[in-house]
Amino acid sequence: MTTLTPWPYPRWVAHRGAGKLAPENTLAAFRLGAAHGYRMFECDAKLSADGVVFLMHDATLERTTNGHGTGGDLPWQTLSQLDAGSWHSRTFAGEPLPTLRALAHFCLANGHHLNIEIKPTPGTEAATGAAVARLAAELWQGAPVPPLLSSFKPEALAAAQQVAPDMPRGLLVDTLWEGWLDKAKALGCAAVVANHSLWHTANVAQVHGAGLRCLSYTVNDPEAAEHLLALGTDGIITDRIDLFSAA
Ligand code: G3P
Ligand code: MG
Repeated sequence: MTTLTPWPYPRWVAHRGAGKLAPENTLAAFRLGAAHGYRMFECDAKLSADGVVFLMHDATLERTTNGHGTGGDLPWQTLSQLDAGSWHSRTFAGEPLPTLRALAHFCLANGHHLNIEIKPTPGTEAATGAAVARLAAELWQGAPVPPLLSSFKPEALAAAQQVAPDMPRGLLVDTLWEGWLDKAKALGCAAVVANHSLWHTANVAQVHGAGLRCLSYTVNDPEAAEHLLALGTDGIITDRIDLFSAA
């Protein structure tokens, strides 16, 4: 019988810090998520032009900052001056883009867990995977629980695996493409993190049978959450920190 990989993480994970209640991927969002009782967060990490790992979802700056163009084309000095809060609401006006280092300090100081989604600017998959894993290994050195590194990009996970083989990895899938589970196994993943609508009894058994955990994103509906819990899945990433209790 296959043994499931150890899983030190809470079941509930706050997406981008606090879902939609605060500007995504800002420190203000993670603080708000924590104030709602969440003890694990998902964030999106990418590289600045000069190699600083910072948090932002989109490749381009327009939606969530007052900047323009591709975030990864700019040096951190320029990115650090942007307003990543005003787009959301006046309460968060002036909130800056954070570095992964700053979020790590917040999580480590409070004993919070983190899922770092490696979100490369297109064309930088391997470089981003390696840089995120290298930095995470440095920041979490000696910590009781390492962060979970995840990505939709196998190339990014392969680079992370090379740099920090012991750091847990999760393959993100939005569809069950040919060979998804074999790829997750080949990358030494501890989990498959799937669009929640993809899970059913048979593939949960298949993933668990391979010793991996089953996580879901982005679950905002109570019926969907109940279904995933009944299936025996292991983790739920949600925007609705105001609806679901993380306890
Ligand atoms: O990591 C889970 C989820 O965040 C993946 O999709 O587009 O919200 O980053 P996205
Ligand atoms: Mg994400």
